[in-house]
Amino acid sequence: MDYLATSSDPVKLRTQCLVLGISQGGKLSARGQNIDNATSGLIRQVIKSRDISGKAGETLLLPCCDGIQAKRLLLIGVGRQKDFDQAQAECFAQQAVKATRETAATELALCLGDLLAADESSYLAFRSAVIAADSALYQFNQCKAENKDPLIKLTRLNLLSVDGRQIRIANRAVDHAVAMAAGIKLTRDLSNLPGNICTPGYLAGQASAMKKEFRKLQVEILEESDMQKLGMGALLSVSRGSREAAKLITLNYRGAKAKDKPLVLVGKGLTFDAGGISIKPSAAMDEMKYDMCGGASVFGVMRAVVQMKLPINLIGVVPSSENLPDGDANKPGDIVTSMSGQSIEILNTDAEGRLILCDALTYCERFNPAAVIDIATLTGACVIALGKHASGLMSNHEPLAREILAAGENSGDRVWQLPLWDDYEKQLKSNFADMANIGGREGGAITAACFLSKFTRKQKWAHLDIAGTAWKSGAEKGATGRPVSLLIQFLLRRCKLDH
Ligand code: BES
Ligand code: MN
Ligand code: ZN
Repeated sequence: MDYLATSSDPVKLRTQCLVLGISQGGKLSARGQNIDNATSGLIRQVIKSRDISGKAGETLLLPCCDGIQAKRLLLIGVGRQKDFDQAQAECFAQQAVKATRETAATELALCLGDLLAADESSYLAFRSAVIAADSALYQFNQCKAENKDPLIKLTRLNLLSVDGRQIRIANRAVDHAVAMAAGIKLTRDLSNLPGNICTPGYLAGQASAMKKEFRKLQVEILEESDMQKLGMGALLSVSRGSREAAKLITLNYRGAKAKDKPLVLVGKGLTFDAGGISIKPSAAMDEMKYDMCGGASVFGVMRAVVQMKLPINLIGVVPSSENLPDGDANKPGDIVTSMSGQSIEILNTDAEGRLILCDALTYCERFNPAAVIDIATLTGACVIALGKHASGLMSNHEPLAREILAAGENSGDRVWQLPLWDDYEKQLKSNFADMANIGGREGGAITAACFLSKFTRKQKWAHLDIAGTAWKSGAEKGATGRPVSLLIQFLLRRCKLDH
């Protein structure tokens, strides 16, 4: 889909579908006023007849209205005008796209600018609106032979702005949003692929393909023999129970000076998690194909950042393996030695994410990072603690945590911090090794992070547990692309480009 910002007059604009937000309380926006005047009071009449009240989510499609050039006029409730923010802009754009499913329109003009301030604060709302529109168009059809046609046939979305200044802001927002949306799409596509297609080898192949596409990107794939040499006993122990060879994928983007310390993102790339010998119950086990969503988000962020040519050095590291039961798989009680030299008693083979991540985190030390952020579908306990609305955030560096929290608020891709107090660490005590890989049921998201913290003592580090946010279950089953928006907002902010 093409996105553009113009300040066309909606009354004169020849568009297939003009979309106007109606706010609760009956006050029309500036554009609403113009359209109402041109259509001899049609908008007020419709509000008076109570066919639309302005409540967020309502939609009303009016065909061929006299007085305006648009073929259709779509009215969408946007809630109270004073509450209209980036989250409402998101809903507005999403509703607009979804409502066109019932029409033959292939192009939309969205009256968004007049609902926003004319200053830089509109940047986030424009950006969120474009990302939301693009997300609403998303379908995963790669594995279907039939019914592959897109449900919505939109090809162009025009963001109507109020003046030249707002157009410039909207255009910048569109540029960023288009790159972000491409990253989010890549993340969702990789995540939605089944475990028999998206294997560690497949992810490594995707990385190599990205390298061909983007000259600024270097890619390195470590094989199991390389990991052996590095002493990655924890990562390799998980992969031993699988017939697919583990891969450690590194994507390296140099957008800043060579001497600038890189930021490093580490994503859990467990392409299928059956639990191993501590096997999972079979209900909904298919969803454990999503156990590589952290890794997929690293791919998505890298893609967007390269496309945006951000002036930063960014490295993405994705440890990738399967976790399956097998005669050669980890057994409860097994003790392995990690690359850091610390030994780990594996009391539950289903706590495998931390085993592959700990070696990847130690590996990151060689990059001398400015900060490391890992992203992982790490614990069911995080979903119990926070539900599916916020990703869990844990960090050993408070300023970094605050930056991430702020990026969550600004992008609408929110996180909530959990404490990383020493009190929790005791739960990982083992009688036989330096630590156990589980800390009991209580505070499970935190003890998992405590485990990782033992491998990041030398680094400014934050951990994002995305077990609740990376995908949806039920009728809408599918990857969300989170936390790509959050991470890109974090990076844009660091570059002072988020406005
Ligand atoms: N990938 C799972 C975490 C998970 C479970 C994410 C369900 C989303 C939904 C992880 O590898 C795992 O199995 N964690 C265990 C840890 C436990 C054994 C300490 C869990 O959460 O049950
Ligand atoms: Mn597991
Ligand atoms: Zn897992």
